[in-house]
Amino acid sequence: MSQRTLVLLKPDAVRRGLVGEIVGRIERKADWRISALELRHLDRAILEQHYAEHVGRPFYEPLVEFMLSGPVVALVVDGERVIEGVRRLAGPTDPIAAAPGSIRGDFGVIVRENLIHASDSAESAERELKLFFPGLV
Ligand code: RTP
Ligand code: MG
Repeated sequence: MSQRTLVLLKPDAVRRGLVGEIVGRIERKADWRISALELRHLDRAILEQHYAEHVGRPFYEPLVEFMLSGPVVALVVDGERVIEGVRRLAGPTDPIAAAPGSIRGDFGVIVRENLIHASDSAESAERELKLFFPGLV
């Protein structure tokens, strides 16, 4: 089943020079395709919509500050079961709990600075793709 997902390489990934490494892991999955890719400075308005489910939680404000701390790389990936697949490449939210071999497991230490966001369901993907790439067909 071909799907489309939104991926954000978070400011820690960009600062640490891990964009090529992470994009490379995505590119090497057979037949997945990158259909948009852009270095972008986010603002509070887009983050409030993107992280609407977390507004009011104790980690929300530090999360937003972190996401504003430098540019992100936003990309759109198409391909077979790509929503579940990129989440699996990323690993679970807590990088210490994430298995070695996953992006978070290989490169992360703290929960907030966990390198990558990927849409967690078809509904999230649809919403996030409209938010970040409204013109993309
Ligand atoms: P994401 O949305 O970024 O793909 O990550 P996720 O689904 O694995 O995690 P989620 O629960 O949606 O949380 C969103 C992001 O908020 C930061 N976070 N910090 N307790 C904390 O300090 C905490 N919990 C979450 C992480 O950056 C997480 O990816
Ligand atoms: Mg999430």
